[in-house]
Amino acid sequence: MYPIRKVEQLNNEVTRMEIVAPQVSAKIKPGQFIMLRIDEYGERIPLTMNDCNPDAGTVTIVFQAVGATTKRLRHLKAGDCLLDFAGPLGRPTGLEGAARVAVIGGGLGTAIAYPQAKWLYDQGAEVDVITGFRSRELIILESEIAAHSTRQIIMTDDGSNGNKGLVTEALRRRIEEGAGYDLVLAVGPLIMMKFVCLLTKEHGIRTLVSMNPLMIDGTGMCGGCRVKVDGAYRHACVDGPDFDGHLVDFDDAMSRSKLYQSFEAEAAGHECLIGRD
Ligand code: NAD
Ligand code: FES
Repeated sequence: MYPIRKVEQLNNEVTRMEIVAPQVSAKIKPGQFIMLRIDEYGERIPLTMNDCNPDAGTVTIVFQAVGATTKRLRHLKAGDCLLDFAGPLGRPTGLEGAARVAVIGGGLGTAIAYPQAKWLYDQGAEVDVITGFRSRELIILESEIAAHSTRQIIMTDDGSNGNKGLVTEALRRRIEEGAGYDLVLAVGPLIMMKFVCLLTKEHGIRTLVSMNPLMIDGTGMCGGCRVKVDGAYRHACVDGPDFDGHLVDFDDAMSRSKLYQSFEAEAAGHECLIGRD
């Protein structure tokens, strides 16, 4: 069993949770994910690591309560336990050698982009973190990012924080100002990553994206997480989740992501009682 040490609401939609999992914490690297199961009745869900503290033996996850499992998860409290917390899974992000980096986080994707920014900044890279949210109330991890970045730019779609626009507008501005990035890393909605990649391709900047397709086993067996990269299907769970963004077929990924929407909506409103008293 994996005890929950701390639970915090970062905003109305997003929860941060610290789990005691010493073996995972000792090995997990930015970009890798875990598969958790709340109890024997629950489904397994993948969540990419937000932070870890190997000394305390903890791994931090950040999630939005959108599916059946995340809706249950957000109601758990410190002291409750998870049945399974398996990992680290996937490959760590290839960050070595980058010196001037833009890390782009779209909405909840900011939580996944944060450990990359932190790692790069701690290694001495110059790191601009550009994040985007629908409005001011949804901004997350502002102080954590401020402590681990050279520059933080927060955009809002409605301009409620005084900085209206999409992340791509801020990124274009920085590139045109001569930021001289040798790597851009983007995590967020598929449409955001697609437009980040179109922009960086124009400027010849190496770009990594974190793909987040439906996953079932997380070990390369079910085929659910296929992503088309450079004309061939790869498994996000074992070959990714990070890929060269200039080679990812985002239109294919967007159409695959819609395939299971009706099942997910049904599951979100359904509580399985089989086997319960
Ligand atoms: P959102 O829809 O509110 O978008 C966040 C930001 O992305 C916007 O504020 C904007 O700056 C940018 N954006 C959106 N559309 C854009 C466009 N067309 N061009 C340029 N920029 C654009 O995000 P949300 O509701 O918080 O959802 C988070 C998304 O992140 C989900 O789609 C989720 O699947 C994804 N996600 C991915 C991972 C991963 O590992 N890849 C992890 C967590 C979340
Ligand atoms: Fe099953 Fe990747 S999640 S193959």
